[in-house]
Amino acid sequence: MTKVYVFNDFGGAEQQQVIDRASPWPAAGQLAIKVRAAGVNPADWKIREGQMGRKWSLPAPTGREAAGVVTAVGEGVDGFAVGDEVLGAVANGYGGLAEHTILEASNSVAKPGEISWADAATLPVAGATAYDVTHQVELEAGQILLIIGAGGGVGRMAAQIGAVHEFRVLGVAHADKRETVEATGAEFIEAGADIADRVRAAAPDGVDLIVDLVGGETLHAVAGTAKDPSRIITTADPKTARRLGGEPVERTNEALAKITDVVKYEVVNPYVTARFSLEDAGKALAAVEAGHAEGKVVVEP
Ligand SMILES: NC(=O)c1ccc[n+]([C@@H]2O[C@H](COP(=O)([O-])OP(=O)(O)OC[C@H]3O[C@@H](n4cnc5c(N)ncnc54)[C@H](OP(=O)(O)O)[C@@H]3O)[C@@H](O)[C@H]2O)c1
Repeated sequence: MTKVYVFNDFGGAEQQQVIDRASPWPAAGQLAIKVRAAGVNPADWKIREGQMGRKWSLPAPTGREAAGVVTAVGEGVDGFAVGDEVLGAVANGYGGLAEHTILEASNSVAKPGEISWADAATLPVAGATAYDVTHQVELEAGQILLIIGAGGGVGRMAAQIGAVHEFRVLGVAHADKRETVEATGAEFIEAGADIADRVRAAAPDGVDLIVDLVGGETLHAVAGTAKDPSRIITTADPKTARRLGGEPVERTNEALAKITDVVKYEVVNPYVTARFSLEDAGKALAAVEAGHAEGKVVVEP
């Protein structure tokens, strides 16, 4: 048996609990792992609330990214063996917030010894998304990348990737995240009323790319600062982005290996800022659900 954090029905946090389940066994193309750490993402509470459809069978396990030690290898999987340390995307029907889970081998990589378990657990979703959202449109050194939501899990990594490429990065966040944003090498721009004026003051000729991790009113307010409306890429609000001429992020298969490499060489730091036990997974989810996360929140069973 293994402990798994689930929600029993679509709705609020009161639906969440730890339950015992039979230890999972990998199907073809999958890996079973003993979880050492799992990343928590906004998708976890959005799925529980039913915002991402109701295709999950209940009780539904929580958590889309994890790192751990391989305990069994499914048919047809090459390149992984029992005992390997890995990180990867959790297979549908399973959850990262668990003692044991199942990863998709095609979206998993070996965990370099240089990367901690907690950091590794943030790369399959948040890290890989930060990679994709900063590579979908090619910028040149010196061009201006505006990140809305630069203080959160994806934002901090996206800002550091921008710095590596020598883009001029402008990071929008609330006032309490000024130091967090500046630590990535970005110039801080305070969120809130008249945000577009502050962006224009920093970039009078407009910005070359808007990476939007927030959506809604804020995206609407700053969209006009893009030199070209097609240069708005969002992870948070495809509807608003499309209405404004932009696009949702396109996730790629190569992103996980690329972000793992740059974290290994300490070029990008995932900034794990809060760690919880499996018993306290509800607190981890609440921290992310509050919407003001700073860096990444991780559960360590
Ligand atoms: N499509 C995909 O594959 C994919 C993958 C990963 C994430 N996502 C989505 O991307 C979004 C960001 O994810 P995340 O993991 O980075 O979330 P997160 O860690 O919760 O960070 C969100 C950040 O946005 C900031 N924020 C909220 N409202 C803001 C505003 N008006 N102006 C500026 N900053 C604001 C928050 O802090 P403050 O408000 O305190 O500044 C927080 O730091 C979420 O919607 C998530 O669902 C999509």
